[in-house]
Amino acid sequence: MGFFCSLTFSIQFLLLFSSSLFTNCFTLNHSTTTHHHECHQHESNALLSFKQTFIISKSASYNPFSYPKTLSWIPTTDCCSWDGIECNELTGHVIGIDLGSSQLYGFMDPNSTLFSLVHLQSLDLSDNDFNHSQIPAKIGELSQLRYLNLSHGNENTFSGEVPPQVSQLSNLLSLDLRSYTLGALQYDLINHLQLEASTLTSLTQNSTRLEHLRLNFVTISSSLPHTLTNLTSLQMLSLCRCELYGEFPVGIFHLPNITVLNFGENQNLQGTLPASIGNLTNLAYLALEDNSFHGEIPRSLFRLKNLEILSVSFNFFEGRLALDMFLKLKMLNFLDLSNNKLSLFSQNRDVNVTNLPPIQWLGLRWCNLNGEILTWIMNLTALSHLDLSQNDLQGEIPYFLEGNNTSNVTFPPQIQVLHLRSCNIVHFPNFIQHLQELTDLSISHNSIKTIPSWLWNKTTLQGLEISNNLLMGEISPSICNLQSLVKLDLTSNNLVGMIPSCLGSFSQSLQLLSLAGNKLTGNIPQTYVKGNALRFIDFSFNKLYGQLPRTLVNCRRLEFLNVRHNHFNDSFPFWLGSLPKLKAVSLRDNEFHGAIMCPLKYTFPQLRIIDLSQNGFSTKLTSEIIMCFKSMIISNKRQLDFKDEIFTGNEVLDPDWYLFSMSNKGVVMDYRGGQYLHHMVAIDLSSNKIYGEIPDIMGSLNSVVVLNLSNNMFTGSIPSSFGKLSNLEVLDLSANSLSGEIPQQLTELTFLDFFNVSFNNLSGPIPENGQLSTFDNNSFEGNKDLCGIQLLKKCEDHPKPPLQKPDGDQDSESGSFFELYWMVILIGYGGGLVAGLALGNAFSVDVYRLLKKIF
Ligand SMILES: *[C@@H]1O[C@H](CO)[C@@H](O)[C@H](O)[C@H]1NC(C)=O
Ligand SMILES: *[C@@H]1O[C@H](CO)[C@@H](O)[C@H](O)[C@H]1NC(C)=O
Ligand SMILES: *[C@@H]1O[C@H](CO)[C@@H](O)[C@H](O)[C@H]1NC(C)=O
Ligand SMILES: *[C@@H]1O[C@H](CO)[C@@H](O)[C@H](O)[C@H]1NC(C)=O
Ligand SMILES: *[C@@H]1O[C@H](CO)[C@@H](O)[C@H](O)[C@H]1NC(C)=O
Ligand SMILES: *[C@@H]1O[C@H](CO)[C@@H](O)[C@H](O)[C@H]1NC(C)=O
Ligand SMILES: *[C@@H]1O[C@H](CO)[C@@H](O)[C@H](O)[C@H]1NC(C)=O
Ligand SMILES: *[C@@H]1O[C@H](CO)[C@@H](O)[C@H](O)[C@H]1NC(C)=O
Ligand SMILES: *[C@@H]1O[C@H](CO)[C@@H](O)[C@H](O)[C@H]1NC(C)=O
Ligand SMILES: *[C@@H]1O[C@H](CO)[C@@H](O)[C@H](O)[C@H]1NC(C)=O
Ligand SMILES: *[C@@H]1O[C@H](CO)[C@@H](O)[C@H](O)[C@H]1NC(C)=O
Ligand SMILES: *[C@@H]1O[C@H](CO)[C@@H](O)[C@H](O)[C@H]1NC(C)=O
Repeated sequence: MGFFCSLTFSIQFLLLFSSSLFTNCFTLNHSTTTHHHECHQHESNALLSFKQTFIISKSASYNPFSYPKTLSWIPTTDCCSWDGIECNELTGHVIGIDLGSSQLYGFMDPNSTLFSLVHLQSLDLSDNDFNHSQIPAKIGELSQLRYLNLSHGNENTFSGEVPPQVSQLSNLLSLDLRSYTLGALQYDLINHLQLEASTLTSLTQNSTRLEHLRLNFVTISSSLPHTLTNLTSLQMLSLCRCELYGEFPVGIFHLPNITVLNFGENQNLQGTLPASIGNLTNLAYLALEDNSFHGEIPRSLFRLKNLEILSVSFNFFEGRLALDMFLKLKMLNFLDLSNNKLSLFSQNRDVNVTNLPPIQWLGLRWCNLNGEILTWIMNLTALSHLDLSQNDLQGEIPYFLEGNNTSNVTFPPQIQVLHLRSCNIVHFPNFIQHLQELTDLSISHNSIKTIPSWLWNKTTLQGLEISNNLLMGEISPSICNLQSLVKLDLTSNNLVGMIPSCLGSFSQSLQLLSLAGNKLTGNIPQTYVKGNALRFIDFSFNKLYGQLPRTLVNCRRLEFLNVRHNHFNDSFPFWLGSLPKLKAVSLRDNEFHGAIMCPLKYTFPQLRIIDLSQNGFSTKLTSEIIMCFKSMIISNKRQLDFKDEIFTGNEVLDPDWYLFSMSNKGVVMDYRGGQYLHHMVAIDLSSNKIYGEIPDIMGSLNSVVVLNLSNNMFTGSIPSSFGKLSNLEVLDLSANSLSGEIPQQLTELTFLDFFNVSFNNLSGPIPENGQLSTFDNNSFEGNKDLCGIQLLKKCEDHPKPPLQKPDGDQDSESGSFFELYWMVILIGYGGGLVAGLALGNAFSVDVYRLLKKIF
């Protein structure tokens, strides 16, 4: 899903599309006359001063074939001969600048001399690093421009508002302001540019000759202007992930020459496909994934002989469709119908399998597959990515149940990516053995009990996901044969025994290792070699014990470490504070003990989430400890944007890997997932033996969203500085010995959704205004001198003796409520993403808020 927004897919697709990514589709007229006019001096000077405002930096361009074109710009030579410069052969004026992928790095001067080149018809500055400069308003002065490309694959490109002046460019044929990525996860792409809806409308009114308009990842946040449908010359229209909403103008489906329609991942864009879509004979590319389109897929669509890409996953399309219809689309090479309300069947007997389309990517997740699907899938000789997840393959398709050789199913042997999640598979399918090029296998959420030993011979595997099955026995040490593994997920099975010690060091490529939710025992692997690639380690919910090996400091790229709910017995691993990328640590529910400390050079520079709850830490919470968490102070929300530059390269990528499912055994603490991290900042020190006063300085950790200090031995008063924790949504200080009044400043916490100060020694009135007034007596009870309407105790009254309630009972109750709360949050942020991926991304966007309402 969403692949067309960011071009996140396998190298094959990369090759397929790279040509169109990096080449201009418009070339200016080249006169064949031999008459040459030398470059004008002032234009030459303008170009040279433009050149001088930048330095050359290889990392400024994303295109692997980039090179510094401006190196050929030498004052003594004719500028018309410079690399990337095109002149009108008659007048000698510079009419074209192509500096795409030229490794330029630096700010774009709003008054750049570039804008004195008024004869320019074509300007390509794509894929350079403009260090977040704004697009200069003077761009509007280049009134001859027909072709403008400021797209980028680099995160530091133009940002801010697209100047309204672009709509003055009435000669434009092509405008490209996209962000794209080749390989990095789409979740990490951040929209840098914003385009006012009014600018888009003016543009469509003024630039009436537009043929190509590409605005992927430009935030527009409005509905689509109907004037778009006036642009009858449009051939390519790409506005994916623009935060568009509202009704999709049906007139867009009447644009006669349209070949590319890409509106993926706008989520709230609604519409239907009209029957007239069959008239768009040029349509090659229709990507509407992750929107709210509904209705049937019109039969006329199957007339589109040029259709190569049809991506409509994660919408609300409905109806019964014969898959065989798609076989008529002779050019089709990408078909994703996943996660709609479709029922797909096959009348296979009528299909002439000698003549199938060149489908490479087939996504049929959650499609109620029915019939002899496999028979023709087997004949798709180009197939490399197959997702049949969430279809009940039991019964319908016996091949999957055969753990033996009774059927010699030969799948297209070139399949690289195979997803068979939630397919009611009982035996590990044998045919997988014959897939010689398999790189990614996901067979999670099935009922598989054993892994055949031939799997350990599949050394091409980069991703292996067998989570949420019934795997028994020990993990075979042969698993360490799989030296290309990048991701290994065996979460939520019944695995026993020790973790093979090689798992910490068998692969230089391993980034994700999750063995959570099993019955593993013993020590965790002790060796983590220098230079390893590990980013996610999850050993939670097992029976592991011992200390955390100090060699974990060799995992310089580690971002997540979760050892929750084991029997680790160790002091506070302050040394983790030297890991430069560590973002989330959970030691929850173990036997860690002693002081929490943070010696000078262990600074936890990126820490966002720390969960030390339910251990035996006994320490005074000092200001020094709080300053360990100073990465939770932000001056600018942007700093919280989680950027991920690591999942690049040739591997086949799938966001689901990244957000892979969490344990179904009540793992509520799941920190993975880019979007989740995007918001979440949390400190949970609950249920330890931490004492002393809560330092005032804690109020400076202003990005904290969840703060849980409950069930400790804190004394003193609630710091009034907590009123500065403006992002706080959860504050639990219950079951301590805090005294004094509830500071009035807490009424400033407008996002507060959970608040608990019960069972302390607080006194005085509960502040009546603001968010605090929305919490009931559960938040305040057990403080004998506290008064307020929540407690049915008027503040003028003499304090009555409090209701005697057994303390422990209350603690566990508040604890469980909190636990629930965590679950809500984590379903929202973590699990919701998983569910979101399963149900449609629309669900994940703000599942958190939604669930908060429900609870
Ligand atoms: C390009 O050439 C065509 C005819 O060959 C002409 O009609 C058109 O105006 C030219 N365009 C430019 C920008 O010179
Ligand atoms: C890029 O921006 C950063 C931060 O604003 C600044 O420190 C740096 O000097 C800029 N680099 C260039 C080449 O302008
Ligand atoms: C651009 O130039 C104009 C006048 O030429 C000047 O007023 C303005 O301040 C300049 N802007 C910047 C950002 O240098
Ligand atoms: C349309 O283009 C003309 C000429 O370039 C310009 O004067 C006018 O302001 C533009 N209109 C809008 C709405 O941008
Ligand atoms: C453009 O579209 C609008 C509404 O969609 C219509 O009212 C207007 O007449 C159209 N303009 C032109 C020039 O076709
Ligand atoms: C559509 O394309 C054809 C062939 O390229 C061209 O002749 C025609 O003018 C185009 N139509 C519009 C409305 O641009
Ligand atoms: C377009 O499609 C509709 C419905 O399929 C049809 O009625 C109409 O005649 C078609 N128009 C053209 C110009 O082909
Ligand atoms: C299947 O298609 C091939 C090639 O188009 C053709 O030669 C063959 O006769 C067809 N077979 C049947 C049964 O229609
Ligand atoms: C279709 O696949 C089956 C099973 O792999 C194979 O026996 C048959 O030869 C294939 N047919 C064609 C035309 O490739
Ligand atoms: C193979 O599996 C099928 C279905 O599970 C079973 O009916 C059959 O007896 C098995 N054959 C052998 C040789 O084990
Ligand atoms: C499967 O293939 C093997 C050899 O490739 C053959 O001996 C066997 O008979 C085949 N089994 C079936 C059920 O076709
Ligand atoms: C794995 O490969 C090795 C060497 O190619 C071979 O000897 C062994 O039999 C294979 N094991 C399995 C279970 O296929």
